[in-house]
Amino acid sequence: MPTLVSLDGRLVPPEQALVPVLDRGFLYGDSVYEVVRTYRGTLFEPGKHLARLQRSAALIGLALPPLPDIEAEARRTMAAAGNPESYVRIIVTRGQGTFGLSPHLSDERRLVVIVRPLELPPPELYERGLRLAIVGIRRNPPRALDPSAKTGNYLNSVLALGQAKKMGADDAILLDLVGRVTELSTSNVFFVKGGIVVTPALALGLLDGVTRGIVMELARGQGLYVQEAFHGPEALAAADEVFVTSTIREVMPCTQIVFAGEPEPRLVGGGAPGPVAKALRAAFAGYVEKRLGGA
Ligand code: PDD
Repeated sequence: MPTLVSLDGRLVPPEQALVPVLDRGFLYGDSVYEVVRTYRGTLFEPGKHLARLQRSAALIGLALPPLPDIEAEARRTMAAAGNPESYVRIIVTRGQGTFGLSPHLSDERRLVVIVRPLELPPPELYERGLRLAIVGIRRNPPRALDPSAKTGNYLNSVLALGQAKKMGADDAILLDLVGRVTELSTSNVFFVKGGIVVTPALALGLLDGVTRGIVMELARGQGLYVQEAFHGPEALAAADEVFVTSTIREVMPCTQIVFAGEPEPRLVGGGAPGPVAKALRAAFAGYVEKRLGGA
């Protein structure tokens, strides 16, 4: 099953998909991107992902090609790759222009679509739950590089994940500068306490996850009270349940939280995945079916 790349409209295998070193995406992470996946070969929520790509581009002052053209190119690349299920990464960089830092030096852009066979997390992870670490590295504040923009500058998440792995965890929980929980390296986070579903408020500076939004709606549809709020990591550790959401993970439970300097991870919900995460994962699967039916 091949990986195939669309590079400025040319379909090429990855080893021929070469971007000049003077591209600003390479030099400065001056780019925006989205990760979209398929279910039964159909792109899931392309409209929501493209709308977010547009918001990210607006936040860094980058003019995108027309969204329908981007979506068409993603579909063309998927069709040519011919995988049963696809991971689709759409990247738009500010191109090359004249060498130098100022964004005004480039009036170009480069569109890249990478289509890979979809790889999903091992099913056991949904049974045992994730082990997450509260890492020392903090999420950028919204007035620095706003984390609600999905840009090619992912070093904050890369370093956080590196720290989490060193702490023996699967992923990182990043706090903001004053110690409030924001999100993971590439997922959003929720906790459940006394039947209330809580997730960090967007105002903290975090990505407005497509899965997060759907799961909040589904939870409300199940009669649960959903709150966007500010909490420290102690609230997560003391919760009945913690779970995370992303395009790739959908709804995945977390059962252990590692705090720096503590010999053992703290167990969430006694160390076993809880009923709300399970119900929301099932509801998410139902939502996917409904969307496919309506597609
Ligand atoms: N990541 N937070 C961050 C920092 C992310 O990078 C992502 C997505 C999410 C979840 O958003 P969504 O539900 O829209 O996938 C939250 C993708 C999967 C990635 O970069 O691979």
